[in-house]
Formats: sequence, C-alpha cells, structure tokens
Amino acid sequence: KPVIGLVGWRGMVGSVLMDRMQSEGDFDLIEPVFFSTSNAGGTAPLGEAPLADAHDLTALAQCDAIITCQGGDYTGAVFAKLRADGWAGHWIDAASTLRMDGEAVIVLDPVNRPVIDTALVAGNRNWVGGNCTVSCMLMGVGALFKAGLVEWMSTQTYQAASGGGAQHMRELLTQYGKLNEAVRPLLDDPKAAILDIDRGVIERQRAMDGTDEAQQFGAVLGGSLIPWIDKDLGNGVTKEEWKGMAETNKILGLGPDAVGGSNEAAIPIDGFCVRIGAMRCHSQALTFKLRRDVPLDEIEAMIAADNDWVRVVPNEKEATMRDLTPVATTGTLAIPVGRIRKLAMGPDYLGAFTVGDQLLWGAAEPLRRMLRILIE
Ligand code: HSE
Repeated sequence: KPVIGLVGWRGMVGSVLMDRMQSEGDFDLIEPVFFSTSNAGGTAPLGEAPLADAHDLTALAQCDAIITCQGGDYTGAVFAKLRADGWAGHWIDAASTLRMDGEAVIVLDPVNRPVIDTALVAGNRNWVGGNCTVSCMLMGVGALFKAGLVEWMSTQTYQAASGGGAQHMRELLTQYGKLNEAVRPLLDDPKAAILDIDRGVIERQRAMDGTDEAQQFGAVLGGSLIPWIDKDLGNGVTKEEWKGMAETNKILGLGPDAVGGSNEAAIPIDGFCVRIGAMRCHSQALTFKLRRDVPLDEIEAMIAADNDWVRVVPNEKEATMRDLTPVATTGTLAIPVGRIRKLAMGPDYLGAFTVGDQLLWGAAEPLRRMLRILIE
C-alpha cells in the first residue's frame, strides 16, 4: 500500500478530511502516517505508530504522497526543502501558497480532470486545492464554462464565517449571543418597542467594534456584514476577489497561469466578496454574459448533467427556500444551483444562485479525491 503522510489532520479542514476519508474507505487503500507540528511522539488517530514530527524531512521523504491541511506557513517552511532534498512524492495541499505556481495544478477533478490527467502524464507532483468560493462555484456552474458559453461572469458572494477559520465561527456565535443578551428583557416583553430593541442592538454592536469581541474578523459580523475578505491588493480589489478570475481560469486550463494558456484566452470574472453571518456555506449570486442566447431549459439540463453533486433547484419560492440555503446544504456534498433565469439586460444575460459547503467541496473533498486518482 502507498505510504501517505497526513499533516494538519486535527484542524477544522483536516477533521472534515479525516471524516470523509473514513466514510469513503480511503484508509483501507493506504498506509497512513500521521504527522504533528506540536505533538510528535503522541498518539496517532489510527493504528499503533506514534505521531511523527511534521518538520522531520527524513520522515516526510519516506511518504509516497503527503496531504497537508496545516496551512500556508507550514507549506512555506517545508515544501521547498523537501523538494531540494530530492523528494519526488506527490504533495497535496489545502493552502494557497503554491496555488498559482507554474509547477502546481489546482485540483477539482469533476471540473478539470483533463487538466489533472495531462499534468500527471507530464510528471506533475504538486496538487493544490482551490479557493473555497471558486471551487464551490465551479462545482455548480462548471458546465457553462466547459461548453464555452461564458463570455464573462460577475459574482457577488455571501461567504460564511468558517472561511476565516474555527475561531471566526466561535466569534460570530459569541457576538450573536451577546446581542441577544443585550436586549433580552425587551425581547421577552411583547409590548416593548422594536426601535428600542434595535437601538440596544446597535449600541452593543458598536461597543464591540475595535475590541477583543471583534478581534478575528476585525469588524462586527453578528447582525452585520463585511464587504472585504482577505488582503488589500492596493488597486481597490481584495485578494479574494482577485482569486475569482485567476483561479477559475487556471482550474479550467485557461489564462496566463495555465500551461499553454494566454491572457487572451482568460474569461473575465469579477465582483464583490462579502462576509456574512453564515456558519460554513458560501453562497454566490452569479451574472453571466453568454456567448449566445441558449434556452433556459437547455441551460438547466446542462448544469444538472455536469456532475453527481450539482442539484438544479426550480426557480420557485418554496423550492428555493427549502433547498437553496446554507442551512439546507451544510454538511452535504450537494451543490444546489437555483434562481436560474434570464436577466432584464437581454436574452444572453443569465442569473443564477449557488450554495456550497466550503469545508467539503471548498476544501477537503478535492484533496481526498486527488489522492484516489493517484492511488487507483
Ligand atoms: N478565503 C476563503 C474565505 C477561505 O475567507 O472565505 C477558503 O479559501
């Protein structure tokens, strides 16, 4: 059996990955070696062997493949040294560090299996999971890109707290609790004036701003939103927004970052990325400029047939409210796509809305599937 090193398996993404690997029987096909950055020698989750040291290059080099959810700092500290020492195994990484590297492929096999296969034949050994928002979007509407129908796309995102990390999820819930607490007596009194309740909430929210209570996000998220995610690129664009175009094109094998791609071939993608108070599902409202007018039923059929996980939700109130929400989607691999309709701008303008669990298709699932591609 191939020896597979696992690093960062205890964190949030790593725990989801472990859970999925167990559900799918992946551990029956591999000999896992569990590494730790902080607890080498401690007890590993499966089998007898103690935890190996995640900074021990000799131990790492004994693996046929390494999957890491440990984060970008770890990748930065270890990857180049391991390769410089001549390690020729497969590196499968959740962090963004190597994503746009010419030597790395962004993996999302239901969307870009041909890109992965070509790279495998060419000897590529670096496989990186995509940005969660991009991966969830492409799992939903990849069909339109594959069919060459998209002239450009604009996306407005509604991104969950989990995208920031586990502490961000805790902070969001703590904020909600404190807001509730602040107006509890008024809420319990049916005769209390709603504007008094509203005033109590905004006072409490503003009191959180700039304090430890809003430390993770840097602004209050509970009962609010934050229209900025990740770094400032200095040109009015956030790093999260930049990833939308750069990574989508690279995944599809288009654009300047793809092997054999060019600037001219890149599909323009832009929009606004917004943090909202959902737990772990990223949602997006999409606007497409299509290259031609395609009937709506053909578009729906194309999207529905693209992969085993996409679900077309009829553009009706009841179905939308039942099936096209973070609450409906969390913890499942389903990628619902709904609100599909032609927009007022013209017959070649299409709107759609999609939701995806950012810890599953947005993070863990493409990694374990890449491992399966390598070992099967
Ligand atoms: N950058 C994403 C977010 C995380 O903040 O929601 C997953 O790529």
